[in-house]
Amino acid sequence: MDSSSNKINPTPDFSNQKDSIDNKNRSENKKSKITVILIGAGVGICICCSIALIILLVIYGAFPCSVAYCDENAYCVNNPFFADCICNTGFGGNGYECDECGNFQLNEFSAIPLNIAVEPNSWPATADILFRYTSEIQSPTGTHLVFGFDNCGGTIINRKAILTSASCIKRTFITFVDRKFLSFPVETNKYHETIESMYSIYVAVVNQISFGVDIAPARYVKVEKIIKHENYDPETDDNDIAVIILEDRLELDDKVQISCLPSKEEDPNIFPERNQHAWGVGWGSSMFGGNGNFKPSRALQDLKKFQLNIYNNSMCSNITKFHIDNLNNDAFCAGEYNVVSGNGKTGYCHGDYGGSLYLRQNVSGVEKLVAIGILSYNEGCNAEHSPGIYTNVVKYIEWIRKNSYY
Ligand SMILES: *[C@@H]1O[C@H](CO)[C@@H](O)[C@H](O)[C@H]1NC(C)=O
Ligand SMILES: *[C@@H]1O[C@H](CO)[C@@H](O)[C@H](O)[C@H]1NC(C)=O
Ligand SMILES: *[C@@H]1O[C@H](CO)[C@@H](O)[C@H](O)[C@H]1NC(C)=O
Repeated sequence: MDSSSNKINPTPDFSNQKDSIDNKNRSENKKSKITVILIGAGVGICICCSIALIILLVIYGAFPCSVAYCDENAYCVNNPFFADCICNTGFGGNGYECDECGNFQLNEFSAIPLNIAVEPNSWPATADILFRYTSEIQSPTGTHLVFGFDNCGGTIINRKAILTSASCIKRTFITFVDRKFLSFPVETNKYHETIESMYSIYVAVVNQISFGVDIAPARYVKVEKIIKHENYDPETDDNDIAVIILEDRLELDDKVQISCLPSKEEDPNIFPERNQHAWGVGWGSSMFGGNGNFKPSRALQDLKKFQLNIYNNSMCSNITKFHIDNLNNDAFCAGEYNVVSGNGKTGYCHGDYGGSLYLRQNVSGVEKLVAIGILSYNEGCNAEHSPGIYTNVVKYIEWIRKNSYY
C-alpha cells in the first residue's frame, strides 16, 4: 500500500473542484440570476406593460372621447369603450360627419295661400317613397297577376337615412279583382325577394312624381334596410315611425339637403307648442286613405306646400281612429281652422303620409326648418278642421338617432 501514495493520496481536494463547481455554479447562478433578472425584468416589463395597457384601457374605456375624431360640429359622450359622437343641434349625421340641416328658401313662405305648387327643388329634404308591388293572387276565377302602387312622403335626415311613418311600409294592398276591391297581404314572392326591393326612393324631386316611370332629374336611390318602430301598432297607429336606410350615401347640394330634427332638449310635454303655424309639403297622392278608402290618383302630381295650425287635443276629439287618451304626446294633431270652400270643407290637404310637418325655428341664431311631425293618419281633407295626426318626432329623437346611424 503506498502510504505515500496513501499519504499523498490526498483527500480529494474538492476545493478546486468546489471552486470550479462554485465558479460554474456562480457563473450558472449569474446566468440564472441574469435569466431571473431578465425574466423578472421581462415579467416586470410585462406587468408594467400590462398595467400600462390596463390603465390605458381603463382610461380609454372610461374616456373613449379622448381618442375619438368627432366632427367639428359634434360633441362627444363617453360611454364604456364607445365614444358617442353626436352632431350639434342644427346639424345632422353620424357624429363623424355632420351636415348643416334645415336650410330653406325664404320666398317659399312669402305666398299665401300656401296650397300651391312649390318652386323646383325648394324643399330639398323631401323624398318620395314609391311602393311598386307585383304579385299573383288566387281568386275564385283563377290566378291573377296584379300590381300595387302607392307613394309616401319621406324626409332626408342624414346622408343615409329617410324618416317616414311605419304605416307607409305596407302590410296589405288593395287591388281590383273579380270586379271588387280586395285586400291582400304584402309578402315577399318570386317578384320581390325582400320587402326592401318593393320600395324606391327619389330625392331631388323637382315637383312631380309618377307611379309608372322615373322622372328625370329626380335621383333614384335603392333601399338597403327598412326599420319600423318595434312598438308600432297598426291598429292604433301608436309609434308610427320608421327609418329607411339607403344603399348609397346621398351627395348633398342645392337640390338635396337634410332636415333638422327637434333638439332633444325640447320637452315633449309642451313641444310643439299648440296654436301655432307649421308647414308641410306633399303630393297629396297617396292612393289609399288612412281609413282604407280608395283615392284614385292622377298620373302626375304637383308637390304642394301648405300651412296648418297645430291644434290642442280638444280640437282633435272628432278624429275617429283616436281617442284623446291616445294623443299622449306621442302624436299631436294639426289642421286648418279656416274653412275656405264652404260646408265645412277646407282647401288644404295634408300631403302624403310619412311626410313631415315643419316648424320654422331659430336654431343657434339661424332660422331653420325643423321636422316636428310625421303625417300618420288623417280624416281626409273634407272633414271639418281637416285634422291630421302627426307622430311627435321629439318623442323619438333617441330612437331616430340610434336607428339612422351609419
Ligand atoms: C284649444 O284650441 C281652441 C282653438 O284655438 C280654443 O278655442 C280652446 O280654448 C283650446 N283649448 C284648450 C284646452 O286650450
Ligand atoms: C266635432 O263634431 C261635432 C258634431 O259634428 C261638431 O259639432 C264639433 O264642432 C266638432 N268638433 C271639432 C273640434 O271639430
Ligand atoms: C328668428 O330670429 C330672427 C332674427 O333674430 C327673427 O327675425 C325671426 O323672426 C326669428 N324666427 C322665429 C321663428 O322665431
